[in-house]
Amino acid sequence: MKTLVTYHSESGNTEKLAKAIYDALEATDNEIDKISETIDFAAYDLIFVGFPVHSSSVPSKVEKALKHIPPGKKLALFGTHGSLRGGPLAISAFHYAATLARKAAVIGTFGCRGAVKPSLLEKLINNPEYKFWALEAQSAEGHPNEADLEDGKQFAKLMLHKAQQAQ
Ligand SMILES: Cc1cc2nc3c(=O)[nH]c(=O)nc-3n(C[C@H](O)[C@H](O)[C@H](O)COP(=O)(O)O)c2cc1C
Repeated sequence: MKTLVTYHSESGNTEKLAKAIYDALEATDNEIDKISETIDFAAYDLIFVGFPVHSSSVPSKVEKALKHIPPGKKLALFGTHGSLRGGPLAISAFHYAATLARKAAVIGTFGCRGAVKPSLLEKLINNPEYKFWALEAQSAEGHPNEADLEDGKQFAKLMLHKAQQAQ
């Protein structure tokens, strides 16, 4: 099983999660790389794509890359977000990501919280465009933490198992 973990990360939160996912994929042929549209996605059996939720959506770099995932390819989506885990503000971004790669076979998604720098958060809370999620993000300090990364590892193992079963 040839597996790729690819991600976009601006302040390092999604990168931490990507590395935890990569580390959990022992004993298979794995690669980890920053996301770009030029990646040869066809060369992999299973692809993990990770991103930070931005404005309840997917950063444009990741949007473009998701559109290049070939039909039928097994895809697992992961991400970090300031808003509450499992909450609607984060889930909508995963739904959107799945529609961008609609020809791929999305086998699972995983999201956990990621802190926003306090100085930036203060500004965002005062901006009506960001206020909604930024208020929730106040309690994301310290995330992703060890427990989040452990959950990410379990997600990785489950996705690998699912992809192997489907082969
Ligand atoms: C410009 C900007 C927009 C964001 N929009 C959202 C959002 O809509 N919902 C949310 O839950 N978190 C949002 N966040 C918080 C990030 O998703 C979160 O901090 C994430 O962990 C950052 O990941 P990174 O360090 O990999 O870039 C936003 C952060 C920034 C800087």
